[in-house]
Amino acid sequence: MTRRIGVLTGGGDCAGLNSAVKWVTKTATDPHLTAYRGEAMEVIGLREGWKSLVSVNPEDPDSVARWTMPLDELVVRTWDRQGGTVLGSSRTNPFNPKDDRSAQCLANIAGLDLHALVAIGGEDTLSVAYKLNNLGQKVVGIPKTIDRDLNATDYTLGYDTALNVITEEVDRLRTTAGSHSRLFVVEVMGRHAGWLALEGGEAAGAHVILIPEYDFEVAKVAELLERRRRAGVRYDIVVVSEGARIRGQGELYLSDKEDGFGHKVLGGIGEYLAKQLEAATGYETRHVVLSHIQRGGQPSARDRLMGRYFGIAAVDLILEEDFGRMVSFRNGQITSVSLKQAIEKLYLIDVDTLYDPLRYNGRRSSMLPRSPRAE
Ligand code: F6P
Repeated sequence: MTRRIGVLTGGGDCAGLNSAVKWVTKTATDPHLTAYRGEAMEVIGLREGWKSLVSVNPEDPDSVARWTMPLDELVVRTWDRQGGTVLGSSRTNPFNPKDDRSAQCLANIAGLDLHALVAIGGEDTLSVAYKLNNLGQKVVGIPKTIDRDLNATDYTLGYDTALNVITEEVDRLRTTAGSHSRLFVVEVMGRHAGWLALEGGEAAGAHVILIPEYDFEVAKVAELLERRRRAGVRYDIVVVSEGARIRGQGELYLSDKEDGFGHKVLGGIGEYLAKQLEAATGYETRHVVLSHIQRGGQPSARDRLMGRYFGIAAVDLILEEDFGRMVSFRNGQITSVSLKQAIEKLYLIDVDTLYDPLRYNGRRSSMLPRSPRAE
């Protein structure tokens, strides 16, 4: 008997997705493993995330060709070196309360004869996986998000490549900032969690780091920068999360349009803050929005490796018939957790242990139990 596995990538794309799809495919279809298990598997790539499963007509060959892609070792051979997702992605939510297409989705999974699904995504994609699993569909998840805000895993695909982009781009900005004695505000991604700003800012040596988990004051940022200039430095780099808030104010959005999961597109805090800081300090200021550049480019070694390990583990879960779970990296080991645990809350920065609210930066002690509080 040959079992058909569907694999999809949902939500924002990032580096490492193709590696995960490659290793799901290679592990599922490996001839030696097939002989050893006594069970053959076939892998079908589902195009554009959940959109494939609400759009495909399993009776129509053209529609099947449009929304699915048979995968084998030869097809995926070179994928792990490529950024983005060859399968494509979308923010389609089959359980969107404004347009519920979950029944269609379930009917199409049956119509395509899919024994199990591998859903590669963040909290939104995996919340759909969780709901489908509760409705009896066999699903396993693989964690990805450059924001790294998924619970119950120490790694999410795309994060390391994005951190490297931030570090490289800030390095580039340093020379021009220094040449012109300017202040640069660099806006990075991070909707709810400031991991990219904090660790990207730490890796790049940013002078001020602003995160969604701690509301900041413009006057305090200005004071920190002025202190640096008085000490003799010529330029400053401020890294700010797109989701960071000025105390007493809300997040800034690029538009009011919502996706299928009810999210609006964040953006604008970098530009807004740059103007405020220029007014407060008098320093010539520029802002840079790294935006989707953080999601692009070739995957780092870590993203290729984690994609590989997660892809292999997802097939292990399917063989064990251990559904409703997400593969996870915890305490240096590949393991799995329930999808429920993965999506029940977001993994945010613990300000008390990792952030220094006095310096608006990473913490400068590792062993002491708490950071000094600003207030
Ligand atoms: O997937 C996470 C993320 O990269 C967030 O950091 C960001 O807010 C959002 O996606 C941007 O989404 P879009 O690609 O739809 O503009």
